Amino acid sequence: MVLLHVPTLVFLLAQLMSLAEAGFAPHHSLSRATERLHKFAIRHSAGLARDLRVVFYGRDVADQIPLGSHKVYCKLPDPFNNGNVNGGNSTSPATATSSSAGHSTPTSASGTHGSTTAAAQPTTSVPVSQFKLQDSWSGSDFYSGWSFWDTADPTHGNVQFVDQQTAQSNQLVGVNSAGNFLMRVETTPQVSGNRKSIRITTDNTYTGGIFILDAVHMPTGCGTWPAFWSNGPNWPAGGEIDIVEGVNDYTNNQATIHTNPGCTIPSNTGQGNLAVTADIVGGLNCAAAETGNAGCGMRSTSSSTYGAGFNSNGGGVYAMAWDDSGIRVFFFPRNSIPDDITAGQPNPSSWGTPMAIWPSSQCNPSEFFYNHSIIFDTTLCGDWAGGVWASTGAPGQDQSCAARTGVATCQEYVQNNGAAFQQAYWEVVSVKVYQKSRQS
Ligand SMILES: *[C@@H]1O[C@H](CO)[C@@H](O)[C@H](O)[C@H]1NC(C)=O
Ligand SMILES: *[C@@H]1O[C@H](CO)[C@@H](O)[C@H](O)[C@H]1NC(C)=O
Repeated sequence: MVLLHVPTLVFLLAQLMSLAEAGFAPHHSLSRATERLHKFAIRHSAGLARDLRVVFYGRDVADQIPLGSHKVYCKLPDPFNNGNVNGGNSTSPATATSSSAGHSTPTSASGTHGSTTAAAQPTTSVPVSQFKLQDSWSGSDFYSGWSFWDTADPTHGNVQFVDQQTAQSNQLVGVNSAGNFLMRVETTPQVSGNRKSIRITTDNTYTGGIFILDAVHMPTGCGTWPAFWSNGPNWPAGGEIDIVEGVNDYTNNQATIHTNPGCTIPSNTGQGNLAVTADIVGGLNCAAAETGNAGCGMRSTSSSTYGAGFNSNGGGVYAMAWDDSGIRVFFFPRNSIPDDITAGQPNPSSWGTPMAIWPSSQCNPSEFFYNHSIIFDTTLCGDWAGGVWASTGAPGQDQSCAARTGVATCQEYVQNNGAAFQQAYWEVVSVKVYQKSRQS
């Protein structure tokens, strides 16, 4: 584990950027320790991706740190002891949807409605999808088909990812009374090293399909860097698709892809049939090696898509569609989830404007993406959340975390403020993968 102080990290990132601009492969300049870590990680996981990347686009010039300005944290009920975090009652949207999200065995499309979800939508008729449910997880289903990553965080976070047994005995994973799967961060008041957290990866891999996350809550708060993403082998050759990602108090999601050279965002993205509900936040080049590992990202224009904004709205559904036309990410707030998704008959052509799009015209999916595992993780500090600790400007981050917390570094904050991580949890209703036929 390589721990860097923020000034050192900022310096290192600056070096990587200038190397990247000069045309060098930036990872050649990473420390030997990091290379060793990466090699070790490669041996232990088919899906690795984020591990070499540096994510810091969208950051702004570090502002002054006014000391004495402290954020007040509300201590909310423990999500493990309540059906929802809004008061312990099972009246949240999570409950409404969890009843239709409980089937864990693949079903094939037949009839007007999809399998067990038909009962939840008695008055709705949606066309049968061309896609069949291949894998589905909700509640305790997540204990099989996913592996717990239990080695160092390749993105240099102040976390100790733990194995399943440790996660369960420390109540860092669990199923609440609403039937939703929880993954959270250790809230022990003080830790001398890293804080325990969770990173899980699917055992199955997928090439193409529709990937649907229904979540009620996601980690938020200064120091957090959660993500729901997928990636392939031989990074970046197999590609990486970041579906949900952000840091600290951000409220607007950023979706990003990382690829081999040759994949770009069209310059007319946002117009006509390339309309998106997002802004391009970095460059148009998606090549990891040519962008300091930053890839090409789009940040949603909606503050209900990430962090506190997402959570206060009861979350919602993210759907990533990966087919011959390209890759698209859609977001649907809790109150406007399409009937075809609820009914288990997904039809992306009916979903309207995506949050993000990478069309095949400039990024052929069959060339740049294969054999993806799906990953959830919550890291703390590290390359991105730590790197922008003193920055402002991103939506939700009017004030820097340094200013909000009065603590100079992310690492110091994480080590001494366990209660601040009460909101750093995922509450997942379900993850579902649809393909026309299983393709790994
Ligand atoms: C849950 O809701 C019911 C009905 O609205 C109410 O009577 C009860 O007090 C609530 N319980 C909690 C813990 O809020
Ligand atoms: C991708 O998956 C296919 C089908 O399981 C497999 O044959 C192939 O070896 C995989 N490729 C890599 C690079 O893992």
